[in-house]
Amino acid sequence: MISNICCIGAGFVGGPTMAVIADRCPSVKVTVVDINSERINAWNNSDLSKLPVYEPGLDQVIERARNRNLFFSIDVKSAIASADMVFISVNTPTKTQGLGAGKASDLRWVEACARQVASFAKGHTIVVEKSTLPVRTAEVIQNILKAAQDASKNKTSSSTFSVLSNPEFLAEGTAVKDLEAPDRVLIGGDNKDAIESLVSIYRNWVPENKILRTNIWSSELAKLTANAFLAQRISSINSIGALCEATGADIREVARAIGTDSRIGSKFLEAGPGFGGSCFKKDILNLVYLSRYFGLPEVADFWEEVVKLNTWHQQRISSIIVKKLFGTLSGKRIAILGFAFKANTNDTRESSAIQIGKDLLDEGANLAIHDPKVDPNQIEKDLGLQQVNKDEFERISNNNYGSWSFFNEASKACSSADAVLILTEWYQYSQINWDEIALEMRKPAWVFDARSIVDSDKVVNAGLNFWRVGDGA
Ligand code: NAD
Ligand code: UDX
Repeated sequence: MISNICCIGAGFVGGPTMAVIADRCPSVKVTVVDINSERINAWNNSDLSKLPVYEPGLDQVIERARNRNLFFSIDVKSAIASADMVFISVNTPTKTQGLGAGKASDLRWVEACARQVASFAKGHTIVVEKSTLPVRTAEVIQNILKAAQDASKNKTSSSTFSVLSNPEFLAEGTAVKDLEAPDRVLIGGDNKDAIESLVSIYRNWVPENKILRTNIWSSELAKLTANAFLAQRISSINSIGALCEATGADIREVARAIGTDSRIGSKFLEAGPGFGGSCFKKDILNLVYLSRYFGLPEVADFWEEVVKLNTWHQQRISSIIVKKLFGTLSGKRIAILGFAFKANTNDTRESSAIQIGKDLLDEGANLAIHDPKVDPNQIEKDLGLQQVNKDEFERISNNNYGSWSFFNEASKACSSADAVLILTEWYQYSQINWDEIALEMRKPAWVFDARSIVDSDKVVNAGLNFWRVGDGA
């Protein structure tokens, strides 16, 4: 019987996942710990609009469970010591230097967690890999824990461990929904009792037929494979979108036609500005690295193309904008609507807006950026360029170049702009009154809809030029 859970890592996965576990298992104490005290303070903020992660419905879950059986703390040591199950939910970014740089996962945070668990755990502890990890990482964790186990054999209170893999499939923006009604829960391991202990947690709200038990390596590899397949669909549809633009076809019609084939299915066929988010690129590159490592270069090349196509597609959008605006953006004002990598999240990691924004700045554009949830300080970090204040921005627009400023209202961002570029599918952008916006834009003016969410007739009737992704009409 599990009564005390510790989760190391209070990020986009650890926070929402543990909140839902605590909400659904009121008799289990759940403590989420992190070395980042600012993040922990934000999780403990009584103002629920200031939680560090924006997810629809998350505030209500937190309100029900926090300080009842859900706790956020920086006291890693005591949370591990009192836990009978420890989830590792720390970041696993791509390595930036050394062996495998640019592709392999950087496991330094996972290794640090394993060492912390080895040092502080008491009695028997089930260690659960929640982070997305290269296949066979459990071996590394097991080795570290075994060394601790051997070292503690002669002591009075020796500690023992079982390691499980339980990858997370939530998508940002729908995290609470995905956690409350998952397509499946995947648990990999070789210790039956440990597996059933974790199953008993999920069984509080997940039907038995949605809980899959596999060996530990299949579980680790299934997570990378799921993300690779999803990302592959986006590169596939975006590649055909480019062909649509060249041939007069329309990607929405093509997607509908192929998506009704039950073998293909209709999801993940929306052409856009390219996939972003913290997972797809990093997990595919990791798969590429592993394939090469295990002597399978053809497999590696196959998956690498998915990432290459995505980068090419982002650059393609930037160059379309340059061409349509007479080959130069120097001194021109472009309103960027949406900076998050998808709607309903404040996350900008790997957002296409970063690459496209940088390309446009390089071309000398002045970017008026709006996003309903992203913090301008984050945009500053992402673009590697300080924003200029609003007054200066209005002054320099049209006679200087390569700057950006944040606007709290989309309509103000569009004022005096030569073009509006929609990069995130926030619902509010589909409701824009183009007649009003058109009055304030500099003519000839363009709307570039990289998410295909606006009514093209309304844009054209307002006297604006219109381009949207994958539309060859
Ligand atoms: P994140 O960067 O938002 O959060 C990770 C947290 O771990 C950070 O707050 C960091 O301070 C903390 N941390 C790192 N080392 C620590 C240590 N030794 N002790 C205590 N805290 C420590 O990352 P995330 O988006 O939550 O992703 C976590 C993992 O889940 C990754 O492996 C990711 O691939 C995977 N994943 C992410 C998503 C997603 O949508 N973001 C979905 C599924 C899986
Ligand atoms: C993804 C996986 O979906 C999830 O299962 C995994 O746990 C983490 O990685 P996430 O990155 O949060 O989730 O969002 P997702 O909805 O998959 O979108 C990823 C990117 O693809 C976004 O930039 C999104 O806009 C884009 N996308 C998605 C498209 O361009 N077209 C689509 O049809 C779907």
